[in-house]
This record gives sequence, C-alpha cells and structure tokens, in this order.
Amino acid sequence: MKDFKGKTAVITGAASGIGYALAEKFANEGMNIVLADIEQDALDIAVKKISDIGVESCGINIDVMHKDSVDHLFNESVKAFSKIHILCNNAGVASTVVADGIWELDEKDWDWVLGVNFYGTLYGIQSFVPHMINHKEEGHVLNTISLAGILPGEAIYGVSKHAALALSESLWQGLKNIKSNIGASVLCPGFVNTNIIESNRNRPDHLSSSNKTNFILKKLASSVLKRGKEPNEIADTTFDAIKQNHFYILPHTSYDDMIKERFSRILSRTEPQSADMQEILKGTLMGNKGEW
Ligand SMILES: NC(=O)c1ccc[n+]([C@@H]2O[C@H](COP(=O)([O-])OP(=O)(O)OC[C@H]3O[C@@H](n4cnc5c(N)ncnc54)[C@H](O)[C@@H]3O)[C@@H](O)[C@H]2O)c1
Repeated sequence: MKDFKGKTAVITGAASGIGYALAEKFANEGMNIVLADIEQDALDIAVKKISDIGVESCGINIDVMHKDSVDHLFNESVKAFSKIHILCNNAGVASTVVADGIWELDEKDWDWVLGVNFYGTLYGIQSFVPHMINHKEEGHVLNTISLAGILPGEAIYGVSKHAALALSESLWQGLKNIKSNIGASVLCPGFVNTNIIESNRNRPDHLSSSNKTNFILKKLASSVLKRGKEPNEIADTTFDAIKQNHFYILPHTSYDDMIKERFSRILSRTEPQSADMQEILKGTLMGNKGEW
C-alpha cells in the first residue's frame, strides 16, 4: 500500500499496547481511525488521544470472539467512513495458568484463547475482506501473530498463534489468486512492553479457568515484557513493512537462531527443540537481552 492519507484503518485491540501504537502511527500518517476494543474505559481514553492528533476517529466496543460483534464493527465502520483500507486483526490474549501438560488445561482455557486469537482474526477477515476487495482501492490486512506462532511451545497461546499464522498464509494466497490489490502481513514480535500479561482483565466470567494462575511465570513474564521493545517501535517497523508489502514482519532479530533450529530439526526428522517458557524467561532475564 502506498497512499495512506485520508484512507481508513480499523484496528481491534486498539485501546492498549501494540494496537494503540498502530492507531497512533496511522493517525500521524493522516488516516481516519476506527478503534475497536472490549475495554470501554481504555477505549474512550485512546479515542480522545487519537482525535487530538487531528484525524477523524471513532471507538466501537466489541468482543472479537463473536462474529456478530465483528459484523457490527464492520457495519459501523462503513457507516462512518464508507471504505475501509487497512484492517488490523490485533486483539489478543495470553493465559498464565499452571499446567505440566496441555492435557491438563480445561475447555474454557481453549475456548477463550482460541476464541480471541484465532476466531477473532478469522471473523475480521470474513467481515471485512469481501468489502475491501469489492471497492477496488488498495488496502492491507495486518494480523498480529507472535514469534509464538513460529516457534514451538507456549501451549494454547502457541496453538492459537500457529493457527492464525496458517490462516494468514492462506489469506495471502487467496488474495494473490484473484490478483487483488489488497496486501497481507503477519506481525510476529518477541516481547513488547504492553499489558498482555494482564489479559485476564478481559476474560469473560463464564470462561473462568479451573486451573490456577502460575504466579512465578506471570512475574517472570512481566519483568521480561517491561524490557521488551516499545509498542511505537513495533508500529514504525510494521508501517514500513506494509508500505513495502512484506508479508512476514519480525521486528526482533535475536530469535533468528531459534527459528533456524526449528526448521533444521523438522528437516532432520528428529524431535523439536525444548521450549519451556519458564526457562526461556529466566534465560532472557539473566542474559539481559534488551532486544527481547
Ligand atoms: N506484548 C507482547 O510481548 C506480544 C508479543 C507478540 C505478540 N503479541 C500480540 O500483540 C497483540 C496485542 O497485544 P498487546 O501485547 O498489545 O496486549 P494488550 O493487552 O496491551 O492489548 C490487547 C488489547 O486487546 C483487547 N482485547 C482483549 N480481548 C478482546 C476481545 N475479546 N475483543 C476485543 N478486544 C479485546 C484488550 O482490551 C487490549 O486493549 C496480541 O494479539 C498479542 O498476542 C504481543
């Protein structure tokens, strides 16, 4: 995508972290912004900050787990701005429950994390992409994945992100098949300084886990996240990648060896590399890799 000024971006999970940073970046490029989020108070503050930049914007309260809610976002966005050019399926959650093995995690953990991270992305594509193709102007779909969508481990979060990455690669192929001028990208960061570790703040009561929170993991993750990249740095890298129509956006380079190891192990037909999250977090803190 080359021209951004006066075009419209819709961003889910826009009230915080990476989503808000994307909203700010697009607004500074002169785009109209639709901010969508489940957290009303944070959304109100975010909308005010974006409108202070001097662009047209609005906030829509949605729950990306539900198709009718994403359809509502689509209808309101089109009502406000007629044509949507950039869709960011960014809303995401991480769970921090204790389990030695994924067989111990209950149905509600799966429903919540897959519901937001995978189905939220799928519903965004279903609701918006036909419109983006039909209006024929250039556009882009950005799906926020994670390095957890490329590397092994991270239990349900990893499963949801691997699924969303595969979904995005199929989206890219479909858009290419029809020679569309809609681009697609996956944003796969490592650690970013956001509120993701407090994801439970938005967990619906009926999907409360019967598993207990792993407070050691949570504390370690919280320390590592604070040393992660800043969301606005991620937004700058993402914007450049959208301009150049790059599909894979990997802002952190310190994981490249782990990615190479994954594919080398697959090709050596042996076993996966070990990816115990607690060990990775401890190693990161001790190694003091600011990059993470
Ligand atoms: N922070 C990191 O280190 C990191 C790394 C890789 C990928 N990611 C991904 O980045 C994306 C953004 O997360 P973040 O790190 O900015 O976290 P964040 O918690 O700061 O922001 C996530 C936003 O999503 C919203 N949200 C949660 N559930 C929702 C739902 N059901 N419907 C609508 N909105 C919902 C939250 O209210 C919040 O505003 C997520 O997809 C996450 O998986 C984060």
